Amino acid sequence: MNKKPVIFPSINVELEEFRSRYFALYKSSNPLLQRLLSYVLKGNGKMMRPILILLTAKYFGPIQEKIYHVSSALELLHTGSLVHDDVVDNSSERRGNLSVNEAFSNKQAVLLGDYIVAMSLEEALKSGNIQIVQILSMLAMKLSEGEIIQLNSRKDNALSEELYFDIIKKKTASLFSSCSRSAALVCNATAQELDAFEQFGFFSGICFQIKDDIFDYFKSKEIGKPFGNDLREGKFTLPAIYALNKSGQDWESRIAAVKSCVATDNEIGEIIDFTVAHGGVSYAEQKMREYRNKAINSLPLSMDKGLRDCFETYIDVIIGRSK
Ligand code: IPE
Ligand code: IPE
Ligand code: MG
Ligand code: MG
Repeated sequence: MNKKPVIFPSINVELEEFRSRYFALYKSSNPLLQRLLSYVLKGNGKMMRPILILLTAKYFGPIQEKIYHVSSALELLHTGSLVHDDVVDNSSERRGNLSVNEAFSNKQAVLLGDYIVAMSLEEALKSGNIQIVQILSMLAMKLSEGEIIQLNSRKDNALSEELYFDIIKKKTASLFSSCSRSAALVCNATAQELDAFEQFGFFSGICFQIKDDIFDYFKSKEIGKPFGNDLREGKFTLPAIYALNKSGQDWESRIAAVKSCVATDNEIGEIIDFTVAHGGVSYAEQKMREYRNKAINSLPLSMDKGLRDCFETYIDVIIGRSK
């Protein structure tokens, strides 16, 4: 595997240690399963969730063995849910490669996703802390709930910013807040510290999803996901919700066409162009910056400068990333 450039000096060594332990988990004696696991590992992602866990744990002292298991558990749950998500979203690309459903089949992707989620449980158990298993199971329920609410929101032609935030809090922010909370918990944090790190994770997760949703409005090979796929799948995200709601034009029939997945590529292109031209993306970026500041303001005041800089870099990577 390629070495990553050092951008989080406080956890540089531990991140490399995590990566090698994590990659070693993707093993099976069954050749077909091994092929699928290796395929997923090929696009191993940005590791934003394990980085958050390691940074949080670092606040409390040297990284302990169980933190690696917690990191693996959460990254595995995340990865399994992405394999499933690409089936649900009918998406052909993930992390710069063909999605599992595209490269193999929907059926194999569903089964592989299940397998990876089960691997996650195993790692949670290895942390030796039953509360981690509890966080993980509550989280898996919340992620699914978010996805189900999102799917159902296609039935209603109103574009609601409130509902958008409810969905992204459940399907994405909950994962980030579970990461920082789990790390703090394993490190015997006080109730105040638990809240502080949980909040940081939560606000970071909101930023992460807003950024991901902004990507959908731009064509770029680097992003590693298809352009316009959210709208093609009937999903309106913050930039379009804002721009269409404030436009004063009648978008009703166009919205209905998108939500029932019968809009043409041209119609989708028009919505994207309109959204960008009418400040939808700028609005989403401004919201993201508000959540960035909330995240920074959540951090414990007693954190030393070196680690605080890493947390600031962390959130700035999330909002400034190009993939
Ligand atoms: C992240 O998927 C899923 C979202 C919450 C939007 P990525 O494909 O960006 O995967 P990571 O974040 O690099 O693991
Ligand atoms: C990511 O959601 C999956 C989960 C949070 C479960 P999206 O469908 O919005 O993200 P991408 O764009 O496919 O990564
Ligand atoms: Mg999805
Ligand atoms: Mg998706």
